[in-house]
Amino acid sequence: MKILIIGATGTIGKAVAQTLSADHQIIRAGYSDGDVRVDLGNPESIREMFATTGKVDAVISTAGLAGFAPLAQLQDSDYQLALNNKVMGQINLIRLGSAYITDGGSVTLTSGILSKEPIPGSASIAMANGALESYVLAAALEENRINLNVVAPAFVKETMEMMGMDSSTGISAADTARAYAEALTGHHGETLDVRDHI
Ligand SMILES: NC(=O)c1ccc[n+]([C@@H]2O[C@H](COP(=O)([O-])OP(=O)(O)OC[C@H]3O[C@@H](n4cnc5c(N)ncnc54)[C@H](OP(=O)(O)O)[C@@H]3O)[C@@H](O)[C@H]2O)c1
Repeated sequence: MKILIIGATGTIGKAVAQTLSADHQIIRAGYSDGDVRVDLGNPESIREMFATTGKVDAVISTAGLAGFAPLAQLQDSDYQLALNNKVMGQINLIRLGSAYITDGGSVTLTSGILSKEPIPGSASIAMANGALESYVLAAALEENRINLNVVAPAFVKETMEMMGMDSSTGISAADTARAYAEALTGHHGETLDVRDHI
């Protein structure tokens, strides 16, 4: 398959690209690096990315910005970032990209387990994750040509290490990548919890 990965230069995206590159042709998209550049927060940039790549068999997003902050400190701009970038940026990959995806192909987005297992400070991220999971569940009822799914990662070991945290409960990026490989076939309208696929 020819697979476009948005966020391929990131912690999870690099591992997904590495896992899938053994059997598939990978086009790596990133914000500041990659085979093609894209800004998820800008629909025109998404249109330009697909015009550059042409037809692909699958799109995987391992991108999407949203920030942690205590509830009382969340500003309009925090909610707007989560909504414009993580939610609509990824949903626009489906809306603007589906014409470029071959029959039987797929789009896999990224949410996170905070949608169902929130922690203090995660309200705007949890909101974005839940929105993505509900969108895919509903959109799949009307989309029969391509498959739509979301992968919900848990805290990634490498991210915890980068943040100076104890990473013993983390799931490695390589293990996280397995759910994205699984989502390529046989799933539609689903949220794949990474912990169920290691
Ligand atoms: N890591 C975790 O523990 C964890 C856990 C649960 C969920 N998640 C979710 O998984 C996703 C990826 O996380 P990650 O830790 O792999 O992130 P990351 O290491 O920060 O990588 C993010 C990727 O997205 C790209 N990107 C940044 N801004 C962008 C934009 N405006 N438009 C398009 N691409 C953009 C980056 O490109 P550049 O490098 O060029 O900026 C990079 O390739 C996020 O949605 C995150 O919320 C992560």
